[in-house]
Amino acid sequence: MKTFYIETFGCQMNFHDSEKVAGTLAALGYREAGRPEEADLILYNTCSIREKAEQKVFSRLAQLRGRAAEGKRLAVLGCVAQQEGLRIFERAPQVDLVCGSASYRRLPELLTRLEAGERRLAGLELLGEDAFETPLVRRDNPYRAYITIIEGCDKSCAYCVVPFTRGPERSRTSAAVMEEARRLAGEGYTEIQLLGQNVTSYRDPSPARWDFVTLLARVAELDGIRRVRFMTSHPRDFVREIVEAIDSNDRLCNHVHLPVQSGSSRILRRMERLYDRDEYLERIRWLKQARRRIAITTDIIVGFPGETERDFEETLELLDEVEYDALFSFKYSPRPNTAALTLDGQVPEEEKGRRLTILQEKQRSIQLRRNARLVGEHQEVLVERYNSATGQWVGHSAENRTVNFSSPGGPADDLAGRYVRVRVTRAGANSLVGEWCRDPERT
Ligand code: 5AD
Ligand code: SF4
Repeated sequence: MKTFYIETFGCQMNFHDSEKVAGTLAALGYREAGRPEEADLILYNTCSIREKAEQKVFSRLAQLRGRAAEGKRLAVLGCVAQQEGLRIFERAPQVDLVCGSASYRRLPELLTRLEAGERRLAGLELLGEDAFETPLVRRDNPYRAYITIIEGCDKSCAYCVVPFTRGPERSRTSAAVMEEARRLAGEGYTEIQLLGQNVTSYRDPSPARWDFVTLLARVAELDGIRRVRFMTSHPRDFVREIVEAIDSNDRLCNHVHLPVQSGSSRILRRMERLYDRDEYLERIRWLKQARRRIAITTDIIVGFPGETERDFEETLELLDEVEYDALFSFKYSPRPNTAALTLDGQVPEEEKGRRLTILQEKQRSIQLRRNARLVGEHQEVLVERYNSATGQWVGHSAENRTVNFSSPGGPADDLAGRYVRVRVTRAGANSLVGEWCRDPERT
C-alpha cells in the first residue's frame, strides 16, 4: 500500500489545508505513515510569512537528499511553493511536485500524474474563481472542526506576503458552508472554527447574500453545535454587529482575535493597515462594553521600517490600555514582493530583538495579572485529552485559554470530548490550573 507523511508549518489555514490534502490522499489509496522514513510520499505544507518559517522547509529538504530521498516522492505545498515556484526545483532537485494553495483543486490530477512517474510537476496558478472544497477531509481533532469560509486576501499590508501566496479573496457560498457545518454536527463535532485570512470580509457569492454575522448566527443555530469561533478578523472590516451577535448568543465564543500590528498611527499608515489607533480603540471599546466578558488577543510586529522609539512606546502604551488576553509578537521580516521592502528606515536586528523582549515581558505581566483574577471562578472547558505525564486533563475555555485540571478518577473519568465545569485554582501567564466540578446540570 502507498503511504504518505505530511508536515505542516504556519497558520491554521495551512493546518486545515493539510487535513484536506490528507483526505484527498486517502481517497487515492494512500495510508498515513507515522514517520517520514516510512512514507513513499513526503509532503511539506509550508509557510513564508517570515524568513525563519521559510528557512525551515529548506532545512528539511537538505536532510532529505541522496540516500534519504531514494525511492521517495517529495512535494512542497503551500506558501513557499507559491512564492518560490519553479526555483524550488533548482534549489532542491530532489523535489517532485510544487503546488500553491490556490491550485489545490488540481491536486488529485497532479498526484495521479506523480504516481504515473511524471516529475517536476507544478500547480502555481492563482486560480481566482473559488476556494478548494473537498468532502475528503481527514480531521486531526475529533471535537473541534475547521471550516474555511473565505480564502485569500484583498488587502495589501506593506509587510505581508499572503496576497501573493494565497491570491485574491474568494468566499464560499453560505449553502456550502452550512452543508459542511451540518455534516460535522451530525458526525459529533461540537465546536466549529470558521477560518479565513480575513473572515470579516466574508461575502456570500450566492443570491442568498448572507453577511458574516448572519453566517455566524446560522452555524451556531445548528443542533449539536455548542461553540463557534472565527479567525482572523481585520479591524477595518470588524463591525459592531459582530460584538452584538456574540453578546446575544452564548454559542458564539467570547473571544476575538483582532490583530493591531502597531500602536502608532504613523506606523499603521506606513503599513497600509487602513485604520489608525483611535479607530482600532473604538472597536476595542465595543468589545469591552459588551455584557459578556470578551477575551481579546492580537498580533504585533516590532521594528517595522521607520519605527522610532516613540512609535514603539505607543505600542507599549496600547498594551496597557487594551490589556490583551494573549499576544503574538514578531520581529519585522522583509518578504519578497512586498511594498515595505523599499521603505527607508530599516531597523537593525538587534534593536528589533530588544523591542520584542520588552514587549513580551510587559505582556507577560499583564497576562499574569489578568489570569490571576480568574482564580476562584468557574470556567466551561471542552476537554481534549488526558495528559498522563502531568496527571491532568487538558482543554480550552470559550475564551480560548488552555485549562489543565484534575479529576478524582483521573483517566477513568472519561472526560474527553465533554464540556465540564472547572474551578480555577491557579493561574500562569499562558494557562490556568483547576479542578473538575461535578455539576450534572452544566456538564
Ligand atoms: N514580518 C513579521 N511578522 C509578520 N506578520 C505578517 N507578515 C510579517 C512580516 N513580514 C505577522 C503579522 C500577522 C501574523 C500572522 O504574522 O502580525 O498578523
Ligand atoms: Fe504562513 Fe501566511 Fe501562508 Fe498561513 S497564509 S501559511 S501564515 S504565509
